[in-house]
Amino acid sequence: MSDNKEIFLKDYQEPHFWIRSIELDIDIFDDKTFVTSHLNIERNQNFKDTHNLILDGKEMKLLSIELNGETLSEKFYTVNSDNLNISTEEDNFVLTTKVEIHPEKNFSGEGLYPSGNIFCTQCEAEGFRKITYYLDRPDVMARFKTTLRADISKYPVLLSNGNKVDSGQLDNGRHFTTWEDPFKKPSYLFAVVAGDLGLVKDKFKTKSGRDVALEIYVDHGNEDKTAHAMESLKNSMKWDEDVFGLEYDLDIYMIVAVDSFNMGAMENKGLNIFNSAYVLAKQDTATDNDFQGVEAVIAHEYFHNWTGNRITCRDWFQLTLKEGLTVFRDQEFSSDMLSREVKRIEDVKTLRSHQFPEDAGPMSHPIKPKSYIEINNFYSATIYEKGAEVIRMIHTIIGKENFRKGMDLYFERHDGQAVTTEDFVAAMSDASGIDLEQFKVWYDQNGTPVLDINSNYNESTKEFSFTIKQSAKLNNDHFEALHIPFKYGLIDQDGKEIKLADNGMIHLKQKEQTFIIKCDSRPIPSWNRGFSAPVTINYELTDDELTFLMANDSDGYNRYNSAVDLYKNEIITNAKRRKNNENFKLNDKLSKAFESILKDDIDPAFKSMILTLPVEDYIQQQLTVHDYDNVYDAIIFLKSSLVNEHLETILEMYNKLADVKEFKIDAYSMGQRALKNTLLSYIAYSNYERREQLLIDQYENATNMSDEITSFKYIVHTFKDTSPYVESFKNKWKDEDLVIQKWIAVQATKPDISIEEMKQLETSEIYNKKIPNHIRALCRSFLRGNPRAFNAKDGSGYKYMADTIIDVDKYNPNIAAGLAKALRHMRNLDSDRAGKLKEQLERLIKENLSKDTFEIVSLNLNN
Ligand code: BES
Ligand code: ZN
Repeated sequence: MSDNKEIFLKDYQEPHFWIRSIELDIDIFDDKTFVTSHLNIERNQNFKDTHNLILDGKEMKLLSIELNGETLSEKFYTVNSDNLNISTEEDNFVLTTKVEIHPEKNFSGEGLYPSGNIFCTQCEAEGFRKITYYLDRPDVMARFKTTLRADISKYPVLLSNGNKVDSGQLDNGRHFTTWEDPFKKPSYLFAVVAGDLGLVKDKFKTKSGRDVALEIYVDHGNEDKTAHAMESLKNSMKWDEDVFGLEYDLDIYMIVAVDSFNMGAMENKGLNIFNSAYVLAKQDTATDNDFQGVEAVIAHEYFHNWTGNRITCRDWFQLTLKEGLTVFRDQEFSSDMLSREVKRIEDVKTLRSHQFPEDAGPMSHPIKPKSYIEINNFYSATIYEKGAEVIRMIHTIIGKENFRKGMDLYFERHDGQAVTTEDFVAAMSDASGIDLEQFKVWYDQNGTPVLDINSNYNESTKEFSFTIKQSAKLNNDHFEALHIPFKYGLIDQDGKEIKLADNGMIHLKQKEQTFIIKCDSRPIPSWNRGFSAPVTINYELTDDELTFLMANDSDGYNRYNSAVDLYKNEIITNAKRRKNNENFKLNDKLSKAFESILKDDIDPAFKSMILTLPVEDYIQQQLTVHDYDNVYDAIIFLKSSLVNEHLETILEMYNKLADVKEFKIDAYSMGQRALKNTLLSYIAYSNYERREQLLIDQYENATNMSDEITSFKYIVHTFKDTSPYVESFKNKWKDEDLVIQKWIAVQATKPDISIEEMKQLETSEIYNKKIPNHIRALCRSFLRGNPRAFNAKDGSGYKYMADTIIDVDKYNPNIAAGLAKALRHMRNLDSDRAGKLKEQLERLIKENLSKDTFEIVSLNLNN
């Protein structure tokens, strides 16, 4: 195993050599692949005295090495498991290496690897070093020319970045294709694909009138599932032209769908490689969420062409420069395509359920980390989701028009460069004339900021005053005040908005600030409207005030949030009652508020969100000591008492929505289905006498996957005998792997699943542990969606996960480390469970772990 060396941002140095261009030759055979590379290298004149060129390269065998066409004597180079070290006095030279690699045995999802019968690559962050010796870092940008050779019948399609410049037949049933990318790029954006694939073509005319060929490659037989991806791609291209003035820059844009992929998708220049889950979608196999996921991920990778590829990161500490910004861009795109209000709620929900706990746990890091052992571990909710919030706050502070000017200036200054987050903020600040010095603290300080708010209403002066204090749980003791754009509203007793300066936008810049507002009576505050800043707020609102805001707030996000707070309070109160051997009770005010939402004439998608109870994982995050013995039951109690109290209304609404037969993929239709299925999720826990039949009816008559999977889930989660349904679903969908993944996930989230049953799923003929989506369907669903089983008192869930992590780590460290991230809550467990988890972490750390998994396990053990 490699050494677990910590790398620090403060140690950044320019590379000592530049690589100006590379010619690659990849010769694929069944049992090996040969890679020949010619590098045009130039000494960096800032390092005149360096005579050592240290290239990255691992898991490869060096077959030959030449410098300027002459075999290099062994005196001048050494090879170890991570590097090729060459000593040379030359300032300009061509280095030629030939290596042998074994993609056919590589299941790490990095470098060149097999996905089913095709070969593909994943080079971000540091996968290129598994293909050839190179300076595998983003600030080394080169022009790539790539020739692929392979058997023509097994690999008729040979793809790489840029334009196809040559192709032809070779001896022995082989052929070749040569690709040239006119744009210089870092190695992490390199890609190749070799395989037998079906092709769907379309085209796009850019605003300046150029034709771009659009090509989506999928497994044969899946061509009919690409229409939504293609439509999303064209919408993304148009949107980036309209909103940011950004046009695509090559003549061809290719997307390849593969089944084995560690992440969602990858923005390789001109040749995106996608997890097939984010390309393939049609009515009967994909849920509305899947359709939205395809649209968002297609957009995200497309938007990287400017924010990531044309301007890239100087080093991996700058990752949020491209990811935070591109997530912000894809969020804005989806808001424009669907509903802005609903999209905002979804994004905040993701942030609060994934990023907030990460930032409160052992992995807490600033969006620009100061150090890491394995960069793969930092493709985190913090870099992505909090990073996007930071960009959104800049947008809020300087305004939409200035933001656009800032983007223009950023491209004008840095096109073709590898830059830092400071460069980005400087462009925003220079273009807008607004000082963002203090704002930059967001990049360097970890922890979710906490705002403690105290208010007072003075009857005699008719003044409402409030004081806001900032703090955060940090990695060090030096909390620096942040510049927080904070939007709030005040609502008077009649439900009317009190007029506020600047529409209620205030700029918090000090650790403590007080504000005074004139108003005739004590107002009800609506804090952090639209979630203008990614903070948590400590301010006691009574149930009456929450109910009031849930019904009257003009801010959609806060209406939703008041509902979540009400549900949360109710669930936690009941869990405590149960702990004290008291009975569960239903709060009447909550029930009334619920009813008024049910009957309110609002957008169905929005209604569905307000009616959805928080999941167990979210509730546990709110408790310093997680309570796995009572919270789940408290949630089910709340669900069944709400549905039983309002059964008639719910059934009537459900039946009306069930009559809508037309299938459309627009915001309103998807909202209707979401609402229908939210209602179904209540009915599933009701005492309605036709409860089972209603679930079976929806399951048997479903004409789309949203309806089918929701009914299937509640059948599996609530019926006594589930086997006929588990079998029928499996038989129906055995040839559709993406649907089978849903089948696995439904079972892994079954509240009373045993470890025995988990193992049965794992050993069934349908499960393939070399496909990351399968591991996610089984294990991630279990970890996130089944807290009670995962945290079983006897520690069996912890042991099972530790066993899995040890096994997966042997072939896919990236995925193993991702699973290990879930073992982070030792500090929030009761002493029994904490002891059981610690035992497993201690067992793990003694294993010969990859550095990915080692870094996570040691953080979890020691923090
Ligand atoms: N650049 C990443 C993909 C990536 C990162 C692949 C690290 C391998 C290692 C890509 O742009 C990305 O961010 N993809 C996201 C989806 C996106 C919609 C946020 C993903 O794959 O989860
Ligand atoms: Zn990305």
